[in-house]
Amino acid sequence: MQKRRFGRTGLMVTPLGFGAAPIGLLSVEVEQAGRIMNLLLDSGVNLIDTAASYAGSEEAIGQTISHRRSEFVLVSKCGQKFEDLPGEAWSAELVSATVDRALKRLRTDHLDVMLLHSCSLDVLKKGDALGALVKARDAGKVRFVGYSGDNEAGAYAAQLSDVAVIETSVNIVDQANIDTLLPLAVKNDIGIIVKRPIANAAWRSIDQQRGMYKDYAKEYHRRFAAMGLKLEDFKGEQISDWAELAMRFTISQAGVHTVIIGTTNPDNARKNVVLAGKSALSAEAIKKIRDAFARAQQAEGKQWPALT
Ligand SMILES: NC(=O)c1ccc[n+]([C@@H]2O[C@H](COP(=O)([O-])OP(=O)(O)OC[C@H]3O[C@@H](n4cnc5c(N)ncnc54)[C@H](OP(=O)(O)O)[C@@H]3O)[C@@H](O)[C@H]2O)c1
Repeated sequence: MQKRRFGRTGLMVTPLGFGAAPIGLLSVEVEQAGRIMNLLLDSGVNLIDTAASYAGSEEAIGQTISHRRSEFVLVSKCGQKFEDLPGEAWSAELVSATVDRALKRLRTDHLDVMLLHSCSLDVLKKGDALGALVKARDAGKVRFVGYSGDNEAGAYAAQLSDVAVIETSVNIVDQANIDTLLPLAVKNDIGIIVKRPIANAAWRSIDQQRGMYKDYAKEYHRRFAAMGLKLEDFKGEQISDWAELAMRFTISQAGVHTVIIGTTNPDNARKNVVLAGKSALSAEAIKKIRDAFARAQQAEGKQWPALT
């Protein structure tokens, strides 16, 4: 898999990464999580994304792939309150304690990237949480720091000198960041990770969604129906299914370096590796998807913000 320069971090990352939320939040067995992550690493995927709040996910990574630590860029997130850690949400004390706990859980002596996990614009402006991450970076516990978030807060973060990486939502039904955050990220040479890159499989009915996705995917499912896209409109692209159209749309956006698909299914993980090697969508196909989004927003009479 051809790697991309990850903004001013200078790291090289594969266009496909792994989002480890569902292996934690859907309580996937550690052996199964390990099977998926090892097969992705075997295929050359080199970025793994987790968070303190993806219950059991950091531990599963530590248990199953920490022996291969030099093969991947490791990203985690922090800042939310945990009863077993000192300090209030987004305080310097809590952020520092969460970094230290992540190192233990992930069985490593450094994270490549630590992000503030979707805090508000006010928290970003206050600066305590980011300041604690900068201290962790200066102490060698974290190589680069950044923000996971969207919309106005994401655009603000993209202009902070300490923020080298942003994780943000971009997909066929979530396009707000394409016109706001991504151009700023390109200008400021920020490493961009895309979360929810295949729109939480929004083409599935809510009955077919599992666990956390049942609620989480509702708005995307609604938008997907409102946009009225049809696979047969993309015949020229030789698209096999919705997952392929969704992934190739996201990977094709200027400024995007890696897309972290979450999966609990080894077959989907293998398929995503193949899809990541395919060419960018044509400008015409991208325009069809962008036009459908714009039309559906207009029909509803309101802008659709990026979902965090
Ligand atoms: N605030 C934040 O910082 C934040 C928020 C959201 C997400 N994230 C990060 O971004 C990652 C990705 O987002 P996400 O997991 O919400 O959504 P996503 O990657 O857009 O979609 C995941 C869904 O797609 C399905 N899927 C995966 N590959 C598929 C394929 N080839 N064909 C059909 N279905 C496929 C998965 O089901 P199967 O398990 O059946 O494959 C899962 O239900 C998360 O895991 C997390 O690391 C961060």
